[in-house]
Amino acid sequence: MIDYIADYLSNVAERPLFADVEPSFLYDLFDEAIPLQPKSLKDLQKVIEEKLMPYITHVNHPGYMGLITPSPNPAGILADLFASAINQNLGAYSIGPSAVAMERRVIRWLNDLIGYDEKAGGNLTSGGMMANFIGIKLARDFTTGDKAQHEGLEEKWAVYVSEERHVSIDKSVDAAGIGRNYLRTIATDDNYQIRLDELEETLQKDKARGIKPICIIGLAGTTNLGAVDDLEALAEIAKREACWFHVDAAYGGGMLLSLQHPDILKGLHLADSVTIDPHKWFYAPLDAGAVLVKDHSRLTASFGIQHAYLTDQSDQKSERYQFYVHGFEQSKRFRSLKVWMSFHHYGKDKIGEWVDKNVQQARHLYGLAESEGYFESATFPVMSAICLHYKSGDLATEQSHTLHHEVTSRIEKGGQFWFASTEMKGKTWFRINPVNIHTTIEHIEELYSLLKKTCKEVKEELMTKYVSV
Ligand SMILES: Cc1ncc(COP(=O)(O)O)c(C=O)c1O
Repeated sequence: MIDYIADYLSNVAERPLFADVEPSFLYDLFDEAIPLQPKSLKDLQKVIEEKLMPYITHVNHPGYMGLITPSPNPAGILADLFASAINQNLGAYSIGPSAVAMERRVIRWLNDLIGYDEKAGGNLTSGGMMANFIGIKLARDFTTGDKAQHEGLEEKWAVYVSEERHVSIDKSVDAAGIGRNYLRTIATDDNYQIRLDELEETLQKDKARGIKPICIIGLAGTTNLGAVDDLEALAEIAKREACWFHVDAAYGGGMLLSLQHPDILKGLHLADSVTIDPHKWFYAPLDAGAVLVKDHSRLTASFGIQHAYLTDQSDQKSERYQFYVHGFEQSKRFRSLKVWMSFHHYGKDKIGEWVDKNVQQARHLYGLAESEGYFESATFPVMSAICLHYKSGDLATEQSHTLHHEVTSRIEKGGQFWFASTEMKGKTWFRINPVNIHTTIEHIEELYSLLKKTCKEVKEELMTKYVSV
């Protein structure tokens, strides 16, 4: 299987990136009863090659520039296989002593990257969704003076974030019992950064109605565009309002490794908690998210329940760190091994070079699009995400929407590239995000030509249809 994986990674560019099959075909393919007879692993590998591999999304393919699931680095892949073999359970010290020590070291590294001091702590999570949920629960507990854990919310509280937030914020506000009607989504400016004047106005309106701020959330790398809010200004407002300041840097946290753009996340250390996903732009295989917390004792205040059956009787000196007492999850995969091995095998700067290359690729695409004038770019790419809108002058908004979806779908069917589409400020955009260690500038140029050609084709078809109707 190791040889198979090595060959796969070397030759992945020859495979169609995304298979053009109906979902029902795949559900039928796996319409199988629980097997009663054993099969050899060798035979199973053949079945996997036939039934699974032709229909996966090859995120390792250099043309994959889609939703933020980077190509995993090979050292991380091996680490994850090893983690499964030793099956340490990071929730409790007694089921993984050295693994707990390694996990704490990786969390420390992430805290150092942010610029937190020795009081900081954190947890590796299943991803940004869970990390944002923990951040919002920490906010709820801190701002209510540690009452909400016991009594629930008795007053009206609101959470403030820009309209460009990831949906995990909406889900977390619900799960933490604050209620989605109390999530204030603030408009963004031309750079897709939160508008501070709107934030101030909304805060004042809420306070006049007896609704108090429980958490202000900054975005440090929006999902659509990699936009970064003014973190220093948000920190100041949160301080004034005596509420928690959480920053979602699930994707943008990768910029902490950048050698060429070190100041993009200015003010990140001012946050009370930060979400960073090593399984995004640190190129670790899934899953490895992280919530980093400026004051470790807040984790214990929020989660510190110790049941008798989990008490480690032999720990007289309380030196055995129990993640379950300082976090949400109990059984917990050994996520740090892949991050630790990636840093050790490549060195931090090599990973930073991959990040910088992806930024350069997005900026090259921006340059191509700007120079010829067929596309509008939402912003100059701050990170690796770029949103392009085809200037289809003669088409109405609805037809332009159709064009963008049709082009995305045709390029997906072609099997050479994959990117997403999105909606922002009333327009449809191609959302292209190279977060891949195998992508090169040549791939970007190829994508640009294909995009231009396909847009022109679809526009002509739509115009003909429009005229004939
Ligand atoms: C800014 C941001 N936050 C949170 C998430 C959720 O992360 P995950 O998919 O790891 O749960 C994403 C996912 O793309 C994201 O872009």
